[in-house]
Amino acid sequence: MKNFVLKGNICYSESRESIRLLPNSYLVCENGLCAGAFTELPEKYASLPLTDYGDRIIIPGLVDLHLHAPQFAFRGLGMDMELMEWLNTYTFPEESKYADLEYAERAYSLFARHMHLCATTRAAIFSSLHSPATELLMDKMEESGLVSFVGKVNMDRNSPDYYCEKSASSSLEATERWICNTMDKYKNTRPIITPRFIPTCSDELMRGLRTLVEKYNLPVQSHLSENYNEIALVQELCPDARFYGDAYNRFGLFGGDHPCIMAHCVHTGEEELDLIKKNGVFIAHSPLSNSNIASGVAPISKYLANDIHVGLASDVAGGETENMFYSIASSIRASKLRWRLRDQSVKPLSVDQAFYIATVGGGSFFGKVGSFEPGYEFDALVLDDSGLDHPQELSLRSRLDRCLYLADDRDIKAKYVRGHQLFDRT
Ligand code: GUN
Ligand code: FE
Repeated sequence: MKNFVLKGNICYSESRESIRLLPNSYLVCENGLCAGAFTELPEKYASLPLTDYGDRIIIPGLVDLHLHAPQFAFRGLGMDMELMEWLNTYTFPEESKYADLEYAERAYSLFARHMHLCATTRAAIFSSLHSPATELLMDKMEESGLVSFVGKVNMDRNSPDYYCEKSASSSLEATERWICNTMDKYKNTRPIITPRFIPTCSDELMRGLRTLVEKYNLPVQSHLSENYNEIALVQELCPDARFYGDAYNRFGLFGGDHPCIMAHCVHTGEEELDLIKKNGVFIAHSPLSNSNIASGVAPISKYLANDIHVGLASDVAGGETENMFYSIASSIRASKLRWRLRDQSVKPLSVDQAFYIATVGGGSFFGKVGSFEPGYEFDALVLDDSGLDHPQELSLRSRLDRCLYLADDRDIKAKYVRGHQLFDRT
């Protein structure tokens, strides 16, 4: 079905600061794109097939701008350490298992099933070091119906022997082969260059990755300014870099001429922020992860006020769940604690701002995504909040707010990506 109409209670961000609410209204899809949301159905769409979702709520699909597929198996475990220790104790041992394709098959089948069912319609995903398992993950993501970027991870230094590429050149060769195998293979799944972070990537590796970005016209994703010990290590490793982001920028892996996502930016200073803005880098804000492994709280409302691109991210398995509703609520909660305990010059996030970063904010990395304005790609969730029972009739705005705080996969009754229905269980 290429062209159709959905009827229901429609909500989407009309700006960073406000959500547009259209009770009992019509959402039109034409050739995978949104033709608009209307309180009265325009005559020219009257003959299109219409699905009436009754009193249910229709919102744009949520965007997870940063998560790790091979960490999904230990979600909810190992939250008792900070980043560097956490990587060595839990993360690298688990990720090393993806050398075994049988294990990868089992684990990534689970991961892709969760991605299919959850609120996420778009994702930027880290895989492991292994090309075969990364290709398997990409096959499964394509089957899931989501649109995603997936990156084979690069690491050639400061990593344990059992989970480290032998040399920059072998890492680059494997990466180029993987790019050639996957760049034109799928409709919805694309490769993305993924140096894990500065501590685990040699200069030679970074230079080679830049060459691949140029040769194949690819985006980049990595981690930035997440944890104090990590930042100190980068300073030690790159004494000439003026700040952490500069260590990426020196290799041409920090946006500017290519799309770029940097996860976290919890402890980003003014100079780094200026370069993020100048280069159009997207910040993937990961509030669940930042509290679980005690990294801190990023000043997101300040970034938004500076017109910096901010998307929301689960950062599974630093974040314990792929459920992006949890990340929305967590982003608001964390910002309030930061405001109360640390810095009252940076306002807490409003619900409207949190909804914005979870939809349009991260969606912009994928093009015109995350809104129901005309011309946006048609990604939508149909939510049934009748399970969130309440003794009174609530306004649509109150019902939406409760969904953002309380909803999970069970409340998602239908999911659409680029105009394709992934499921409908109404
Ligand atoms: N920095 C480098 N690798 C990782 C990772 O896997 N998770 C998080 N949260 N930060 C990282
Ligand atoms: Fe991460």
